[in-house]
Amino acid sequence: MEVKWTEEQREAITTRGKNVLVAAAAGSGKTAVLVERIINIVTDPEKPVDIDRLLVVTFTNAAASEMRERIAERLISLLDQHPEDKRLADQLTLLNKATITTIHSFCLDVVRKHFFLLDLDPSFRVGDDTETLLLKLQAMEELFEELYEKNDEGFLLLVESYGG
Ligand SMILES: Nc1ncnc2c1ncn2[C@@H]1O[C@H](COP(=O)(O)OP(=O)(O)OP(=O)(O)O)[C@@H](O)[C@H]1O
Ligand SMILES: [Mg+2]
Repeated sequence: MEVKWTEEQREAITTRGKNVLVAAAAGSGKTAVLVERIINIVTDPEKPVDIDRLLVVTFTNAAASEMRERIAERLISLLDQHPEDKRLADQLTLLNKATITTIHSFCLDVVRKHFFLLDLDPSFRVGDDTETLLLKLQAMEELFEELYEKNDEGFLLLVESYGG
């Protein structure tokens, strides 16, 4: 795949050392640019970074899978052109354990690894919708009770104005 990048795309691919926000129409090549950016960083002739040293986060699982697949495709096509490049071949292996994941999954991983710093039960898990709804209701009831007991003026006014 030889793409002729636009000037803006090229800039988004090669800019380093600052934050880059890419906003463009559907199907205009945002993911392609991001993939190329990653490939450029990984194959940089001066300061190459192994793919498993990058953090790539997306919003959905589907987008994460797409990213991983498209990076693999690019690496494979580069390897076709440079079959003797050992480093390139390594990247394809490292891609399996690269952190290309949803933001939620990444955060969950961080919390799991550092549960002791957060004073969390190591066997914690993500609650389902029903559980979290019950927890919210419970927290609200407890808070209401506390505020009723305190005869909190602002709270009473709020309940009077908005309460059913
Ligand atoms: N400059 C370009 N010239 C030709 N084709 C391009 C160019 N930039 C991107 N493409 C191609 O356009 C297609 C869509 O690109 P891509 O999937 O990256 O878009 P996207 O903005 O991420 O889309 P979506 O909004 O659906 O996520 C791909 O096949 C990509 O290779
Ligand atoms: Mg996309």
